[in-house]
Amino acid sequence: MSRRHAAIRRARGQWAVEDLGSRNGTRLDGRRLDGTAPLQPGSVLRLGGSLFVLAHRKVQAAALDDSELVGSSGVMDDVRRAVAAVAAHPNSVLLTGETGTGKEVVAGALHRASGRAGRFVAVNCGAVSEGVLESELFGHRKGAFTGAVADKEGLFAAADGGTLFLDEVGEMPPGLQVRLLRVLETRTVRPIGSTRERAVDVRVVAATNRDLVQEVRLGKVRADLFARLNQWPVHLPPLRERREDIPELSRALLARRGEGRALSLGLLEALLVHRWTLNVRGLANVLGVAAIASPADQPLELTEQVAAMLEADRAMAEPVVDPAALMRTMPTVPMVKRPSPTPDADAVAEALRANNGSVAAAARAVGASRQQIYRLIESEGWDLDTFRE
Ligand SMILES: Nc1ncnc2c1ncn2[C@@H]1O[C@H](COP(=O)(O)OP(=O)(O)O)[C@@H](O)[C@H]1O
Ligand SMILES: [Mg+2]
Repeated sequence: MSRRHAAIRRARGQWAVEDLGSRNGTRLDGRRLDGTAPLQPGSVLRLGGSLFVLAHRKVQAAALDDSELVGSSGVMDDVRRAVAAVAAHPNSVLLTGETGTGKEVVAGALHRASGRAGRFVAVNCGAVSEGVLESELFGHRKGAFTGAVADKEGLFAAADGGTLFLDEVGEMPPGLQVRLLRVLETRTVRPIGSTRERAVDVRVVAATNRDLVQEVRLGKVRADLFARLNQWPVHLPPLRERREDIPELSRALLARRGEGRALSLGLLEALLVHRWTLNVRGLANVLGVAAIASPADQPLELTEQVAAMLEADRAMAEPVVDPAALMRTMPTVPMVKRPSPTPDADAVAEALRANNGSVAAAARAVGASRQQIYRLIESEGWDLDTFRE
């Protein structure tokens, strides 16, 4: 950094940065700064060899200390506080946030902070069929259905005294939602094929990357189940709203792979300014590529492979413009019959004349439907008689 490199000022509630004619320049969000520019929370500044992120808020003392949960930004501090506040209470907790924002990590931290002696048991409600999920959750008796060769304890029973994490809860089939609600209300489970109920003491933590209120309105999630799960909502902000956590998260994610090397300035800047469609999971992937692609005994670099990973992650967030591709990515949307193009009026007039005013024959001749021909006759104000001999 130059001795007088740049100035950061606040005027009328807005932060701004000005380069003071520094020797090697100032970069803002990955681009060279010319003169003065406004700063927003999350803005990434590079002054010489130092990187800065304008934090969203001042960080207060963290209320929850969990070695698995990394990140000390102000917004993560909110998450820690919310988790610490509810931990000892029996409330069901609903974790919302984009994919890869750490919902499962937070669920684990919540379980540890709860002091509950039982196990932490996780189940993905969207990954298996309704029948399999039902017997996974509630268990079954031997012989309850074909293939039930022995009694099986369900995950509710396994989590007795502990925490059951229901991941992707918005994808739970409607039939099971009713059963789940019953279990949550009566605090008892009855395995499939059994006539006995068993009392369970389970703290439920549910997670979703969908807008559950919207899912309730669409009739996909029962309102009564939503109410039973949403007794303490915690939202996990996307990584792009807490860029200041990226250096710390990167160190932790690399340490998990036994990687202790530092990041080059160029790589760190690229990570800081990226939009992170896949959030922390995406960051872990990119770092995994950087660790392999960078020369040994050197800081991790922004190699071609790393740049390609970042580009793929970025492209994922782009709106799909090709309607055919859009249809392919949305198999659940009922196929809308594409209207055939309106037949050419001149060609239809000629076909009507050639077929003595027969609409059916003219329609066949131009490859249109009869309705389309009638519509055209109406819109053109034709009299069918004029096409007859
Ligand atoms: N705050 C965090 N601290 C440490 N690791 C994290 C954090 N958030 C996410 N991760 C890591 O990122 C990956 C995705 O996290 P996960 O909890 O599975 O996300 P989600 O359930 O929201 O899709 C996991 O490998 C997890 O360990
Ligand atoms: Mg997950």
